[in-house]
Amino acid sequence: MNRRSFLKSSAFSLMGLAAVCLGCSSQQPAAATTAAANTNTEQGAQPTMNSTNKKILIAYFSWSGNTKAVAEAIHARTGGDIYEIVPETPYSQNYSATVDKAKQEQQNNARPAIKNRLTDISQYDIVFIGYPNWWGSLPMPVATFMEGCSWQGKTVAPFFTHGGGGVQNCDRDLRKLAAGADITEYLCLSGNRARNSQSEIDTWLHKLAL
Ligand SMILES: Cc1cc2nc3c(=O)[nH]c(=O)nc-3n(C[C@H](O)[C@H](O)[C@H](O)COP(=O)(O)O)c2cc1C
Repeated sequence: MNRRSFLKSSAFSLMGLAAVCLGCSSQQPAAATTAAANTNTEQGAQPTMNSTNKKILIAYFSWSGNTKAVAEAIHARTGGDIYEIVPETPYSQNYSATVDKAKQEQQNNARPAIKNRLTDISQYDIVFIGYPNWWGSLPMPVATFMEGCSWQGKTVAPFFTHGGGGVQNCDRDLRKLAAGADITEYLCLSGNRARNSQSEIDTWLHKLAL
């Protein structure tokens, strides 16, 4: 990440900003995200039955790969289907440009179109939903995804990565978009540790006892 340009463009609080920078060690968009290789649920895949016969979906958005790594680590434990939320118009690979665009989208309460939009989640019992903390809340393509689905009767397990600001409004704002769901305790991991957090992930999964 380019700290100087971030400083210029960011209106985060001084403390939050310093904290955010700590977590931005790999600020390049994830290849899978930009490659638009997004499959909804893997082509033709049937929902996996785990030991409790619950059908699981892991849906995530990731720009620079941290949240993707967490999603994959969860998937390795739970099985089920994995779905990447990919905006139709990709975010720039440039950090400052992405920070600016994300801010604008939040201010406008935008709903950026997403590719391979998944709207029918009726087959799933449990949906893990993960994203990075962007400006204290969610990347707006996640709102597009959430609003396209019916959450009634689902169990939603949220997970977030952050750059030092922690959860801020990530959990609160997700709850507003998942009306009717039973929302579990969230997992929030520092982005720069996301690829190394299997034990935290396991502890969280164990606690959820889904
Ligand atoms: C547009 C943008 C806004 C961000 N805003 C925040 C923030 O408000 N608070 C914070 O702690 N981290 C913030 N970050 C840092 C990310 O949350 C963190 O690096 C995260 O782990 C990135 O996840 P990803 O690799 O899945 O995209 C921001 C990063 C970007 C690109």
